[in-house]
Amino acid sequence: MLGRRLYSAASRHVTSARPTDGFVGAIGNTPLVRIGSLSKETGCEILGKAEFMNPGGSVKDRAALFVVEDAERRGLVRPGGTIVEGTAGNTGIGLAHVCRAKGYGCVIYMPNTQSQEKIDLLKMLGADVRPVPAVAFDNPDNYNHQARRYAESLDNAAWTNQFDNTANRQAHIETTGPEIWAQTAGKIDGFTCATGTGGTFAGTTRFLKEASEGRVKSFAADPPGSVIYSYIKSGGKVMDRSGSSITEGIGQGRITANLQPDIHLVDDALRIPDADTVRMLFRLLDEEGIYLGASSALNVAAAYEMAKALGPGNTIVTIMADGAYRYQSRLFSRKWLESKGLVDAIPAHLQKYIALA
Ligand SMILES: Cc1ncc(COP(=O)(O)O)c(C=O)c1O
Repeated sequence: MLGRRLYSAASRHVTSARPTDGFVGAIGNTPLVRIGSLSKETGCEILGKAEFMNPGGSVKDRAALFVVEDAERRGLVRPGGTIVEGTAGNTGIGLAHVCRAKGYGCVIYMPNTQSQEKIDLLKMLGADVRPVPAVAFDNPDNYNHQARRYAESLDNAAWTNQFDNTANRQAHIETTGPEIWAQTAGKIDGFTCATGTGGTFAGTTRFLKEASEGRVKSFAADPPGSVIYSYIKSGGKVMDRSGSSITEGIGQGRITANLQPDIHLVDDALRIPDADTVRMLFRLLDEEGIYLGASSALNVAAAYEMAKALGPGNTIVTIMADGAYRYQSRLFSRKWLESKGLVDAIPAHLQKYIALA
């Protein structure tokens, strides 16, 4: 006898989503999360796309899949081939997963300044990791150029070139943008996020501008030390590189091929100081239970600024690119935060979250 039923088939926890086709099929279709505290405070709907729920843990799973499938379509890789990329971050993780799922080798070149944790994770995912001296982009030994040369030296291999391969931006034109449009039923007034390669910001902006016939406003969010803010504010005349930021995965010194075709669509730019980013990071943890990496906290801080700029009644969407797991030894360390002069930016009642010495 089963006795009394302990559940209802109409439970709000049950959705009708069907099983996905492996790792690759689980990429995308992430939840759009309403951030209640910030929405209440601003009188806007502030929504974060929960990209940390992708199977590889970040927004870059989308780009990884699109650049690999682009290489397949162009006949650059065939079964048993090798994907080569220069990356110090989430793209490498996404590529390592996608390569295992599709049976390709994965070779990652990165500057030798990266943490052992990152190198170890990529190795655990089966990648061949090659740390090389950290030199500027115009030096032929820069990790990106080494990645390209290595791929060219192999038969059946592709350099996926995330910065200037527009298959990256296409991932967001075809998936992130349409998902946001469907999840808001077209009731969206503003979009903002920061740029690394620019793929997420440019592709999502392009889709939302086209779907709304130009109505949705797009603001680029930028950390100090990155040129995007000054470039947009000056109408393309200034590239101010001054300052630096604790954020990882975002900030750019040039206009990439992913950003170039859409930069004229951008309505405005916001520069978010690190103090605002860490304050938002701890606030989201305390008030919403959401554990975000610094680039995502910057994005939410930008959405909050955009809400104030557009005024009550607007719906603003941003990207929650990844969780804090890959950065926690820094972001939750008192010593590290002190070394960056950021402890005082965190309100006293939130300092209990600084759990590491
Ligand atoms: C944590 C994080 N946030 C944001 C971005 C930026 O995304 P995009 O390269 O699409 O501009 C990246 C890119 O690597 C990232 O790793």
